Amino acid sequence: METTLSRNYATEFDPQAYLNTYYTGPDAEDRFVTQFMVTALQTMPADLLTLELGGGPTLFAVATLAPASREIHFCDYLPANLAEVRRWLAAEPDAFDWGPYIEMTLEEENIPVTPVAVEQRAADMRRKVTRLLRCNALDTSPLGPDTQKYDLVVAQTSLDAMSADIDEWRWVMGNVCRTLIAPEGRLLVSLVSGTEGYSIGDKNFPVLPLTVDDVYQGYIEAGFRADTFQIETMTAPDARDYVGLISAVAQKAAT
Ligand SMILES: C[S@@+](CC[C@H](N)C(=O)[O-])C[C@H]1O[C@@H](n2cnc3c(N)ncnc32)[C@H](O)[C@@H]1O
Repeated sequence: METTLSRNYATEFDPQAYLNTYYTGPDAEDRFVTQFMVTALQTMPADLLTLELGGGPTLFAVATLAPASREIHFCDYLPANLAEVRRWLAAEPDAFDWGPYIEMTLEEENIPVTPVAVEQRAADMRRKVTRLLRCNALDTSPLGPDTQKYDLVVAQTSLDAMSADIDEWRWVMGNVCRTLIAPEGRLLVSLVSGTEGYSIGDKNFPVLPLTVDDVYQGYIEAGFRADTFQIETMTAPDARDYVGLISAVAQKAAT
């Protein structure tokens, strides 16, 4: 389903401008999100089939997900974002430099940061990302004919960016749970909080302002188990359009 928000992404979102605005080097927020993923992954089985949903032009999450995954499928609404990711996977010389984010990930995993360790992680990321897929999480088959179910779906600041209101967000959570998460699989999300939008230069993109309670209710109504729900929040110390971040994870019921 095409919406005002998805049309806005299709016409206004510039992957390189986004990277140059929000990925100028790992900051406290990147560390918060990475640490949340590192801790959550320690509670999950090995060799996950993982989907990054609405990954944009970014590979920072893949840096954390790669060692825990047997395969990562990466999807986004915009072909231009997938093209940006493809350039890094192909090691094109002018692709975005994710090296500093890989170093930060290794630090958060307590792995000594050496050039060899960074190279090995980059190689693991390139090996594990096996599919780049066009996706619309507002469709009942989000990946079209490629729609399948995953052990882990990770959505970093994408579900709140694509939902116009709380009802749509609840619907998207239910849709993701029904169509993309395997029985006993997990959904890990991060959301920006305390704002109704973010900007890239003179372009503005709405964000649905969600509370911790909204996130909890969204997970439970979608079909995730309350006893597996974990959530953490942080206040963004850096000058941003938003005031904080929420990260959450929970496991879907077996049936
Ligand atoms: C704020 S960006 C987040 C990108 C990246 N995950 C990050 O953490 O920087 C929101 C992303 O959601 C994607 N998006 C917007 N609407 C979508 C939809 N209906 N289905 C899937 N992805 C969508 C956009 O293309 C964009 O890449």
